[in-house]
Amino acid sequence: MSDNITVIKPLEGPMHGSTRVPGDKSISHRAVLFSAMAEGTSRVSGVLDSADVRSSIGAVRALGAQVSLEKQADGSLAGGITGWGAAGPSQPAEPVDCGNSGTTVRLLMGILAPWDIQVTLTGDSSLCKRPMRRITAPLMKMGARFLPEGRETLPITVHGGGLRPLTYDAPMASAQLKTAVLLAGMYASGTTTVNEPAPSRNHTELMLPEYGVATTAGACTASVTGPAQPQAGEVLVPGDPSSAAFLACAAVLRPESSIQIEDVSLNTARIGFVRTLERMGAQVSVTRTGAAGKEPYGIIEACYTPDLRGCEVPADKIAGIIDEIPVLALVAAHAHGITVFRQVGELRVKETDRLAAIMDGLAKLGVDTWCEGDDLYIEGQPGLQVPEGLEFDSLGDHRLAMTWSLVGLTGKVSVNIKDFEAVCVSYPGFLDDIERLAR
Ligand code: S3P
Repeated sequence: MSDNITVIKPLEGPMHGSTRVPGDKSISHRAVLFSAMAEGTSRVSGVLDSADVRSSIGAVRALGAQVSLEKQADGSLAGGITGWGAAGPSQPAEPVDCGNSGTTVRLLMGILAPWDIQVTLTGDSSLCKRPMRRITAPLMKMGARFLPEGRETLPITVHGGGLRPLTYDAPMASAQLKTAVLLAGMYASGTTTVNEPAPSRNHTELMLPEYGVATTAGACTASVTGPAQPQAGEVLVPGDPSSAAFLACAAVLRPESSIQIEDVSLNTARIGFVRTLERMGAQVSVTRTGAAGKEPYGIIEACYTPDLRGCEVPADKIAGIIDEIPVLALVAAHAHGITVFRQVGELRVKETDRLAAIMDGLAKLGVDTWCEGDDLYIEGQPGLQVPEGLEFDSLGDHRLAMTWSLVGLTGKVSVNIKDFEAVCVSYPGFLDDIERLAR
């Protein structure tokens, strides 16, 4: 069999016991990037060691920050980051390669916009297809320039400097967009506000005060008042709920399973998948045990549930489950009745076209799906029988690799996954962790 096919075998037994998941990807990116902007040396711990976060680390190094993070016994990164502070980032000699990471490149656009340097940002073939005008458009209103002008995709060169504050009504709920504008707004004189059509994850608003920058935030709005220079801070990164979602969904699908995932972020903007599973009748629960700064964390518990039912997820809840929709769609494929995810057009512009990929993958399982406009419908099949010898293509997308692997892991027959190693983007130890829970 060719090198890039991984055979995923059924788990040895039911999943049971406790585990932890690696650090939250969104919070890890922000810890690295905000520390790089800060004056002085920040201390960070629990940072996710994955390809995406390494893109952020590589980028801030190229721009003049000193990063001394060391691998810890639990696989996380911890240590100091000395930022460029009020002196600003230095002009890099070469284009900054952001790999597969949308968060790295989009946040960097906002970070670089205030400074009088010219930085070319690029990425891998997936990132070079993703839309960037949603970020450059508001930053241009603030006074930054991007070349070539009007370009939608990378490579794009940021020409920063001399920003004015902005009140921006974002066309979509996107934490990357909101964050890019707020980070630029810190270097404009006056208040910059982003209003969103639905709530997106709020880690930026919660974390900037840890760096001495006040923010104000409501359900669909966030503001920062500049000029405001971040100062060194201390960040402890909790476990990633988006990674935990794969373990929780696996436990819901694998007969006789019962697991606890500890020290995972319970930020309400991130655990929408638990609410969706609850609405499907799944046995899941959360228990808060502490907080890291303003980020709550605790335990997610999930048990096998034989009688799942379809549910409707309204449009205003989609941003809160955007990265979990592929795996929730797989759970929906096992439920009685129809599940509908409203207004999921954003899935088309993720690491791949995840809407098309979900429909293609579920079709291989013989599950009916259809779209009406941007609404995704899935007709579940309780007792779904998976045919032998199925092959799924991750399309280089980490969340698709893990989603399709659950077909084999929680079922009765192996599946082949093309480019399974894409999991390294967010959860390099995924297969080890899930297999350990089943031993
Ligand atoms: C992220 C925001 C989301 C999410 C991505 C991480 C972030 O993207 O899908 O994985 O860290 O801000 P959008 O801002 O495009 O919704």
